[in-house]
Amino acid sequence: MGVKITESVTWVGIRDWELRTFHGEEYSTHRGSSYNCYLVRDEKTALIDTVWSPFDKEFVANLKKEIDLNEIDYIIINHGEVDHSGALLQLMNAIPETPIYCTKNAVTSLKGQYHKDWNFNVVKTGDKLSLGKKELIFIEARMLHWPDSMFTYLTGENILFSNDAFGQHYATEEIYNDLADQCALYQEAIKYYANILTPFSALVTEKIKEVLSFNLPLNMICTSHGVIWRDNPAQIIEKYLSWADNYQENQITIIYDTMWDNTKKMAEAIKKGIRAADSEVVIKLFNAGKTDKNDIITEVFKSKAILVGSSTINNGILSSVAGILEMIKGLAFKNKKAAAFGSYGWGGQAVKIISNLLKESGFELINEGKKVMWTPDENALKECEEFGAQIAKAF
Ligand code: FEO
Repeated sequence: MGVKITESVTWVGIRDWELRTFHGEEYSTHRGSSYNCYLVRDEKTALIDTVWSPFDKEFVANLKKEIDLNEIDYIIINHGEVDHSGALLQLMNAIPETPIYCTKNAVTSLKGQYHKDWNFNVVKTGDKLSLGKKELIFIEARMLHWPDSMFTYLTGENILFSNDAFGQHYATEEIYNDLADQCALYQEAIKYYANILTPFSALVTEKIKEVLSFNLPLNMICTSHGVIWRDNPAQIIEKYLSWADNYQENQITIIYDTMWDNTKKMAEAIKKGIRAADSEVVIKLFNAGKTDKNDIITEVFKSKAILVGSSTINNGILSSVAGILEMIKGLAFKNKKAAAFGSYGWGGQAVKIISNLLKESGFELINEGKKVMWTPDENALKECEEFGAQIAKAF
């Protein structure tokens, strides 16, 4: 059901408590998500975004309890991805002539997905739509995170409807940031940035600076996922500026997978060596075969260096390590160091393969990596500790 946010704005979204993966199986959503959309009522009424298609009937039924659908004058689609446009078919069946305001690229994405020639009205940065006393101002946000993305700003209420930007996959009954569990909120916000927005960091900085240059007063940021930022909304903008600026903490993350625990023994000896050389650095250790991949990516995002290990199998590397390295490559992390390690029985190609993948992904290799043949004995474990110590001293 709707939640009144301000005099003119009502949240009419859906909370998806059961969601456990998003983008197919690509993004884990341990705390579910929400598809936020908003009804803005003035002399004219605008609906900003819709919800994911499995919820289309529920969404439209809820909306009808808020408003006679024929009283919706405008539909604003900030972004055409199906989690925000998925209820359009259902909605447009009821009000087929209602104009849809979106970017040129959103027309392409909506036509490509729904194959309908709706009443599209293309908007660009600075275009305005009067609702009566208040206005909507559109701000294109290309590649944050799709080419069709945009923000919508509501004058009078001073609300930025930011769509995916500043969001979190977090279903919570506490709709405002100050009411939510702060640890969960931070964790979901940084995970969202790390896994979705990292490749676009340069554009994030540029877009935030552009929006700030408009000197628009800001009372709230109404995102399309997770909480509404009403308490000090600038705090998430400041976080984004920091995360977009080659973010790192004093952390080294060790990621490995292992066939018969030999690479695992190496990982633990390396960790011991890092700790012996640096008593303060945060060290985290993950078996990629047993750990949620998006949680690992969040830790990579926070790290100044990562160490990646795998046994050699079939002249290659273990599939869980290959998978996480593919994600790391796509996310284009910057300003991070790395090294590879792994045990082997025969060929021993894994360390070289991992080193090459890390280099191709933009990491500065600290060294050529550490290989151990068969089960590491006491001497080999000492060498791994020394390898860890060298890693710690590389900063
Ligand atoms: Fe929340 Fe890009 O969709």
